[in-house]
Amino acid sequence: MKHLTFKNGDQIPILGLGTWKSNPGEVRKAIFWAIEAGYRHIDCAAIYQNEKEVGQGIADAIEAGLVKRKDLFVTSKLWNSAHRHEDVLPAIQKTLSDLRLDYLDLYLIHWPLAFKSGVSFAQKIEEFYTYHDVPLSQTWEAMQDLKVKGLAKHIGVSNFNQSKLKEIMGIGGQHPEMNQVEMHPFLPQEGLVNFCLEHGILMTAYSPLGSPDSRNEKHVEDPKLLTNPIVKEVASKHGISEGQVLIAWSIARDIAVIPKSTNEGRIKENFEASKIQLDDHDMMELRDIGVSHRFVDGTFFTGTNSPYKLSDLWDS
Ligand code: A2P
Repeated sequence: MKHLTFKNGDQIPILGLGTWKSNPGEVRKAIFWAIEAGYRHIDCAAIYQNEKEVGQGIADAIEAGLVKRKDLFVTSKLWNSAHRHEDVLPAIQKTLSDLRLDYLDLYLIHWPLAFKSGVSFAQKIEEFYTYHDVPLSQTWEAMQDLKVKGLAKHIGVSNFNQSKLKEIMGIGGQHPEMNQVEMHPFLPQEGLVNFCLEHGILMTAYSPLGSPDSRNEKHVEDPKLLTNPIVKEVASKHGISEGQVLIAWSIARDIAVIPKSTNEGRIKENFEASKIQLDDHDMMELRDIGVSHRFVDGTFFTGTNSPYKLSDLWDS
């Protein structure tokens, strides 16, 4: 398994298990199967509302002697309702308690926008904080305190574009160590990847399979990544699955990748993709795939009832 290396020498396994949309009742077993199959990187978030079950799965694997805590790399994310300085510590404490851990390997600001305390999904203008109310710098300073306290070994962000990254890098102190964004051949994010590379920020690709289980209404009309003819062609050339092509694509670009699955067979299948090497021709074909699409488009945070615009999220 390839690893990516942080500035202090710590490493993150390039392939992890995603847990967004993993149902309570399924995810405990999925975590156990994944660790059994060889995964050592698990990606979580408070808003996925399944961290207690993820924690049970981790505890099961440790109790069964499959791994020790120090062998695992566990990421979680600060939800939008906890961006005020005083809300950040309680948020990580809740996540740590749910996950049954005493530290996270990586803690990310989930989105660069803030809701009022206790609001899971802001629907009305009065349920949001603006950048004036709670600037990102306030949240980023509180994240740095968590690292000093040893509650998170590494800190970073998710869904941050270049200008948002520059904003928090400009306040002095620690730079984000990771930016987790949607990334796959329909959304290769070349500009952002280059920017992060230049500034020593590692990257993780979420929804690498195109999030086929999305519950978003408009998703039925979205282009399909797993059945794209180029993806299928590369899969058949190597005798591998389409999912494995998409995972191997990210690994070939030195970008961590966190496919979600709660199915034992697919958890194993996806893990095997860490052993697959795509060649230059495959990478060229996938680069020229001819479809450009963002599945998680952020419109749910940026309607007329929100102080935020899509341009607050994405560069283009
Ligand atoms: P399941 O959990 O039943 O395996 P993404 O990581 O892009 O959000 O995609 C997750 C979705 O893709 C889930 O619906 C998951 O279903 C499905 N999935 C995971 N691995 C594969 C695979 N190798 N081939 C096809 N679908 C997969």
